[in-house]
Amino acid sequence: MCGIVGYIGFQNATPILVDGLKSLEYRGYDSSGVAVLNQNTIQVVRSEGKIIHLEDKLQKSVIEGCIGIGHTRWATHGKPVEKNAHPHIAHNTVLVHNGIIENYEELREQLRSEGVQFSSDTDTEVIPWLIDKYLEKEGDIEKALYKAISQLKGAFALALFSKSDPSTIYVAKNASPLIIGVGQNETFLSSDIPALLNHTKEVVILDDGQVAKLRADQIVITDFQQHVLDVTPRTITWSKEAAQKGGYDHFMLKEIHEQPSSIADCLRGRINDIAAEVDLSELSDPAFFDGVDTISILACGSSYHAALVGQYWLEKFVHIPVSVEIASEYRYRNPYMYPNTLSIAITQSGETADTLAAFSLAKSKGAKTLSICNVVDSSIARMGDEVLYTHAGPEIGVASTKAFTTQLVLLALVTLHMAKKNKTMAQEDIKKLTHDLLELPRTIEETLHMNEDIENICKQFTKARDFLYLGRGASYPIALEGALKLKEISYIHAEGYMGGELKHGPLALIDDEMPILALSQRGVLNEKMKSNVEEVNARGGQMITLSEEGDDTYAKISDVEIKIPHVHELILPIIQTIPLQLFSYYIAKRKGCDVDQPRNLAKSVTVE
Ligand code: M6R
Repeated sequence: MCGIVGYIGFQNATPILVDGLKSLEYRGYDSSGVAVLNQNTIQVVRSEGKIIHLEDKLQKSVIEGCIGIGHTRWATHGKPVEKNAHPHIAHNTVLVHNGIIENYEELREQLRSEGVQFSSDTDTEVIPWLIDKYLEKEGDIEKALYKAISQLKGAFALALFSKSDPSTIYVAKNASPLIIGVGQNETFLSSDIPALLNHTKEVVILDDGQVAKLRADQIVITDFQQHVLDVTPRTITWSKEAAQKGGYDHFMLKEIHEQPSSIADCLRGRINDIAAEVDLSELSDPAFFDGVDTISILACGSSYHAALVGQYWLEKFVHIPVSVEIASEYRYRNPYMYPNTLSIAITQSGETADTLAAFSLAKSKGAKTLSICNVVDSSIARMGDEVLYTHAGPEIGVASTKAFTTQLVLLALVTLHMAKKNKTMAQEDIKKLTHDLLELPRTIEETLHMNEDIENICKQFTKARDFLYLGRGASYPIALEGALKLKEISYIHAEGYMGGELKHGPLALIDDEMPILALSQRGVLNEKMKSNVEEVNARGGQMITLSEEGDDTYAKISDVEIKIPHVHELILPIIQTIPLQLFSYYIAKRKGCDVDQPRNLAKSVTVE
């Protein structure tokens, strides 16, 4: 995610920037930095780790000036070390960036051939050098900025200033947030509204494709084609705490609603929409998946459920044997390792002790290794021969939501990538699916419209003591995930079951006090699930069904029917997850539970 701040006015910028960064620390905390202009000298101080380390450094090297920018980083390209911390500086321009520049390698090569020496491993550093290059040609920073922007592909929120125009901060936005705070003879900038509320309640929320020229007493906004836009500031009435959660009551709900953008970030640069194929050229070995005969996936908790969905997809679409292992068990077995095994560790934090130990065991037994992680440069990310990052951004709520769905998206991408390589899927089907994946952020947005309906449905289930979730096929792991979400945040006992297993025991639990939530399936499994639902009805259980629009299999046999958009079977588990997240959230909220920090749990389990 990363956080950006900026200030131009009559006060010393440094303490204002540091305060702003502290408010934005939830957006990233692996390194931070500030740049201030003082008598035509750009002073930069950067530090690895949390903002507190930056503050320590600033005590030793005082920097002062009335114009400045700052950044707190959540690494995407380049390790979380000081040289990769922002701001990044060229000869004349200093800049901070939130987002991912997809074509940075190409730009870097081009600039390198023109004599630029880069001092970081980031995608960001190409931007100040590109601006400097055009500044030299055009003699005007504004023109240079427009020219540079026209060459960038990807997501960016940028803030910069230049020695060539010492009374202006320039900003540009495409797909990453940027808010301007309007003061009295001073102008503020931030990635979110709360960081501004100590200074002003008057804000301009920039739209994609806009550039703003910020002076202490003037704000000019244009589009990328340089047309001036008429934008009126709005007044914010939220408290600072409410604003930190983006107006949501809890981080979990905010993170549920962030899924369209976190999935867009996860997909960014990984689908070549012209060739309609998956592009995993970020892997350092282009032949990484060649010769893989079997896959073993290691994970815990929600990440384990994502792995189970991946198993179903890989077996069905890549025709490859896949085993999925609970890491805490695997590490104490003496697992047999087939030759040419690919071991994949899936983890949000990248620090889960059991997954780390299991992955290390797989590696020591000679497996090729791939990490699927959210936290960049975490221990598990570093351990793998290759790593694919989910780019979900920091997840604050203990219950995994956006991290889980982005793990599924990456597994879908790996499935399509391998299916193409191994020629196990028709080109037409791959094309259709890559298109559907690109549409996924919009489909999730549409699914999230059911927020209030789910809130209402939940009212009748807050007193339940137990819950059963039923699924089959790739929806079975989603039943497990739904049950885990409910138990961890609402403390209601819940179990996920394969529909076919009901008659082998759990049916004995069912009476008119027991709610059961059944997930619809595709093809023959839908008929089977219908029979399972009827078995439950015959015993008086309260039946909630989750099915796609256009499927009326369950219309007459459900007490409550929840409808989701009709999607491809590979996308279905991702969409089914959304109402289950909302369901557990609203039940927990109505019960007055501590949704973001449930009792006895920690976000990252770094001990056994
Ligand atoms: O960071 P990891 O993905 O390795 O964490 C694994 C589990 O601890 C985690 O998914 C946990 O189950 C979540 N609280 C579930 O919401």
